[in-house]
Amino acid sequence: MDDEWICGRLGEDEPWALGAVNPPVFENSVFTFATAEELGEAVRNEDERYVYWRGTNPTVDLAQRKLAALERGERAKCFASGMGAISATISSLVSAGDHVLVLGAVYGPTTQFLRYLEKFGVTHTHVRDLAEGDSAIKASTRLLYFESPSYMAYQVVDIAEVTGWARERGLVTVMDNTWSTPLFQKPLTMGVDLVVHSLSKYIGGHSDLVGGVVAGPARLIRPLALTEYQLFGAAMSPHDAAKVIKGLRTLPVRMAAHQERGLAVAAFLQDHPAVRSVNHPGLPSHPGHAIASRQMSGFSSLFSLVLDTESRPEVGAFLARLRHFRIGVSWGGFESLVNAPALSTEESVRATMGIPVGLVRLSVGLEPAETLIKDLGLALEGMAA
Ligand SMILES: Cc1ncc(COP(=O)(O)O)c(C=O)c1O
Repeated sequence: MDDEWICGRLGEDEPWALGAVNPPVFENSVFTFATAEELGEAVRNEDERYVYWRGTNPTVDLAQRKLAALERGERAKCFASGMGAISATISSLVSAGDHVLVLGAVYGPTTQFLRYLEKFGVTHTHVRDLAEGDSAIKASTRLLYFESPSYMAYQVVDIAEVTGWARERGLVTVMDNTWSTPLFQKPLTMGVDLVVHSLSKYIGGHSDLVGGVVAGPARLIRPLALTEYQLFGAAMSPHDAAKVIKGLRTLPVRMAAHQERGLAVAAFLQDHPAVRSVNHPGLPSHPGHAIASRQMSGFSSLFSLVLDTESRPEVGAFLARLRHFRIGVSWGGFESLVNAPALSTEESVRATMGIPVGLVRLSVGLEPAETLIKDLGLALEGMAA
């Protein structure tokens, strides 16, 4: 199946009522049945049947079908946030006494959630590579969790190598694929068991949605959908699902533009004397570029640069000089955003994560690349002075 067709048309072959071009939004919390027996049967299969929106809803279901197909998974389950998907997914795979390995840098709240699980007797260890993984693995290790490219540093993980390693040791793998979107990287085809995403970034695409999804085989998604999804209650609303469906329609054209603009900005920055390095896996100079080119079909536009400074006030002054990039968290929308962990993250956390003081994260939006390059150029001139 072609990805553009999945994004635009999958599940939409029938004309909608009145010839509407958009799928209807089923604003229904409840669905009814002819008999109580039928209701009982539906409740037992609430991952597939429409009973109550905390279980699922036809609009949410349409988004789920498209996302599952894009990831080449059998099933997908949408959540009210990326963290809703991540916390439910991890919870579905571990029990008291289990141990989790975390490979490379991952989104901060994911680590916070793993710390939270300690009160239920689930422990975790962060490792930088598979050699450290071999030292840290225990008889109780169940799960290997990672992102590629990694959080903030954008280091590339060889996905097939990692999943082969995990399979030999009997571990389930979960990967956060938010950076690439399922258009540019399909981890399930490289042996990952479950893929999670924040839909709040490129897939939503307009900074007007918070959502999440997990995709993978029915044998893992079904129990999660019937228990953690239902019980934790981070259910996606049909209104948000309609935004996901809308976002998917334009995802292929938006990602092509993000890729082009992100690479143009990254190429400009890597030649600038006030910049020590640029962490963008799409640049041929990036240490993970060869692996990235093998396992990804494109590059998004979230990356970091390291300013040639050890001074936090100087990093702050650089951000303040930017006129077009706005300071904020998140990424993947129309607007270009900038963030500096040295100024917004607790100092001890930044140091533990190995993030240099001069690291600045850019989310390159859909404005003309020349505008963004000019903005960065002027702000960097101020640094050199
Ligand atoms: C890589 C990554 N994964 C997951 C999340 C969490 O997603 P959400 O904010 O939708 O809960 C984020 C949010 O910034 C993220 O950057």
